[in-house]
Amino acid sequence: MKTLFLKVDPENPDLTKIQTAAEIIRRGGLVAFPTETVYGLGADALNSEAVLALFEAKKRPLDNPPIVHVADPREVYRLVEDVPAKARVLMDKFWPGPLTLIFRHSQIVPNVTVAGLDTVAIRMPKHRVALELIKQSCRPIAAPSANLAGKPSPTTAQHVFEDLDGRIDAILDGGATNIGVESTVVDLSVDPPLLLRPGGTPFEALKKVVCEIKLHAFVKAEQELSLKEIRSPGMAHKHYAPKAEVILVEGKVPAVSAKVIELAESFGLKGKKVGILATDETQTCYQADVVKSLGSRSNLASVAQNLFRLLREVDSENVDIIIAEGVSSEGLGLAVMNRLRKASGYHIIKAGRAKGSK
Ligand code: TXA
Ligand code: MG
Repeated sequence: MKTLFLKVDPENPDLTKIQTAAEIIRRGGLVAFPTETVYGLGADALNSEAVLALFEAKKRPLDNPPIVHVADPREVYRLVEDVPAKARVLMDKFWPGPLTLIFRHSQIVPNVTVAGLDTVAIRMPKHRVALELIKQSCRPIAAPSANLAGKPSPTTAQHVFEDLDGRIDAILDGGATNIGVESTVVDLSVDPPLLLRPGGTPFEALKKVVCEIKLHAFVKAEQELSLKEIRSPGMAHKHYAPKAEVILVEGKVPAVSAKVIELAESFGLKGKKVGILATDETQTCYQADVVKSLGSRSNLASVAQNLFRLLREVDSENVDIIIAEGVSSEGLGLAVMNRLRKASGYHIIKAGRAKGSK
């Protein structure tokens, strides 16, 4: 299949190009598009065949449902059984924006779109291109992140192209995404609501509005969860994993730097090609084959924005090992740390702690 490339201005997109993309969605095709978080790969959420094609193009396991994107909160009422009062409060406050809410779904949502679950994940993105595409398609759009399953999510159209060229109908290129990590996922089909995936909307901001929200154990997990603990299919799958082995070093900054130096030296001596994902505050301490900064520790939004791009960049240098520094888990740091821990396959070293202590 030839993938059509449509470049648009993210602030003021050419509506004829969006119309071309919307026409593809309406006839059951696949279009990648920018959102404020990461690029999504869209299909008509109410068309089972289109959604099946979406899973195939991404090589995504069929048990992991995509998020359904809407351009108007009123659309939710058609797709779900019940909108709890807490959901209305969250939609009012955070939509459009990087917050996905999970509801019990109505009859009109096909089984494949929800992977056979009785719930559906819905969000309204805050991006002109995404909103115009949904409006002009006249359908809710099912859109997982537009990467091959297991790869870091795409934050540019180029990333989408690397993973999916020839596998999808079109890519709407609206430049780099702003937030850089995916939306926060909150399950409202249970009470109290449960945060399943940290993302672009910080936990602290949600708690100010609905104070009883709980964090699922997965959010801060430092090891693989057992099957009975899993509430979101995405928790069970391999994610964000570059080709290289990733080691995450967590702790206070001086101890982290010392550990990173020690690891880089010892892998270097073994003839391994080493990449380091450092921060602005520490990057000059290191000598390795590739050293990149995720951003400043005092600006976790910039770290989130750079994270997936840098995982891809370091990996493209064909390093054997990526040593990444952990950052604080406050604000967007919670999402960053959750992605880094998963990317490392939970290969986490606590710097500055005696061996054997937890
Ligand atoms: O920012 C985002 O959320 C991006 C952009 C494109 O909107 N989308 C995204 O989609 O990250 P995806 O499919 O890569 O991640 C959706 C997550 C997965 O972890 C999936 O398991 C979970 O949401 N999910 C979807 N439906 C669910 C449900 N009914 N119950 C629990 N988790 C669900
Ligand atoms: Mg994804």
